[in-house]
Amino acid sequence: MIHPLHIDTHSIPSGMLSEAQALFPAVMTAHRQLHEGRGPGAEYHGWLNWPSTMLESMDMRRIMATSKRLCRDTDVILVIGIGGSYLGAKAIIEALREPYAPATPEVHFIGHHLSGREIEGLKAYLRDKRFAINVISKSGTTTEPAVAFRIFKTLLEEQVGKEAAAQRIVATTDAHRGALRELAEREGYETYVIPDDIGGRYSVFTAVGLLPIACAGLEIAPLITGAEAAEKALKNPVDRQFYLYPALRNAFYAAGRKIELFVHYEPALGFVAEWWKQLFGESEGKAGKGLFPASVGYTTDLHSLGQYVQEGERHLFETVLAIEETGSTLRIENDALDSDGLNYLAGRRIDSVNAHAMQATMLAHADGGAPSLLLRLKHLDAYHLGWLLYYFQWSCALSGIVLGVNPFDQPGVEAYKNNMFALLEKPGHEAATKTLKKRLEGLQK
Ligand code: PA5
Repeated sequence: MIHPLHIDTHSIPSGMLSEAQALFPAVMTAHRQLHEGRGPGAEYHGWLNWPSTMLESMDMRRIMATSKRLCRDTDVILVIGIGGSYLGAKAIIEALREPYAPATPEVHFIGHHLSGREIEGLKAYLRDKRFAINVISKSGTTTEPAVAFRIFKTLLEEQVGKEAAAQRIVATTDAHRGALRELAEREGYETYVIPDDIGGRYSVFTAVGLLPIACAGLEIAPLITGAEAAEKALKNPVDRQFYLYPALRNAFYAAGRKIELFVHYEPALGFVAEWWKQLFGESEGKAGKGLFPASVGYTTDLHSLGQYVQEGERHLFETVLAIEETGSTLRIENDALDSDGLNYLAGRRIDSVNAHAMQATMLAHADGGAPSLLLRLKHLDAYHLGWLLYYFQWSCALSGIVLGVNPFDQPGVEAYKNNMFALLEKPGHEAATKTLKKRLEGLQK
């Protein structure tokens, strides 16, 4: 069977490939555990069958209707969320929107930082714009989106009045719990539910991702159809090539390669890389273990980090995402004078030059001791992206189980939050406030 994604290992040293193949039994055990709903974090396996559930649910139509309603007479859609509550939507919108094409409405993301400067800038930008808000928070209590929502809800109410503002706000949150759920019900916002059994970074195919994507004017059906095709292909029996990625990650890690560099050659994929980093970083980085997920965009970064990858410390490997057909047919022109010496490229597609740059880089990095795994995706479109993102989620779950961690929790994220609440003197954190202030005084001495 021909799949939208092909795993190409020609640049992996044969010894490492054998190490990865030796891990297949462990990956297959992890696969059984996952698909039978067992193991740590089993209460968060909802994403596994979600694409097929979503395709058949009424929510698909409702999302389309909501996006139409929100976008009517609107210049800007504001998506408020952080982590898994914004990265998937941003990744897909940036990957699929035509570069530099004017967008109506524009989609802007906020609530993923605490920069007063940024928030103030956006506030000024929106002053004479008609805007609507999709606020997304599973817990409904995360500080960053809550702060942004308070500010932009107030601005919207000042602009159009409280009642009309309520019609322009949609909340995507937990079915029952959290401050956002309570507020949405009190104010009468339309709401979407993030299922209990789907964690933030595995939620891109729920309304968390789909509503902003639809608001950006992109079709959501092919995205889910692609994810559903991956869901089917990765159930049982699985084409064994797909076990290679989770197996290789663990084999490289065991061999002392502690950094995985996600490489792409399309600037539009920059946020797919960000989404990927969150997925793997939050899923595996715990209990003192886990590959550090980093990313580069080539050929741009060949002129910055390329030197390090070629000759720096040998503690990394690369996972290269190649798009076989981007849809661009642009060719390099002939020039009568050829003063730039580029006529040897005349008539060639720029994408073909890019593909040669990729091959050349993989060879050079292999020579330099930085091996790469190549993931070949046939097209850059919604269907293929749906397939790919589902594949990453599935690989991440398997890889984490083989590593011996729970790939569905993120206990470490609480540490900074607790300190921040204590330092900001949030009620209930009094004891920690005292201790932390003493520690800070000690540091300042
Ligand atoms: O993957 C996760 O669970 C996290 O990254 C969350 O998505 C992130 O912390 C935002 O949480 P919430 O949606 O509850 O505001």
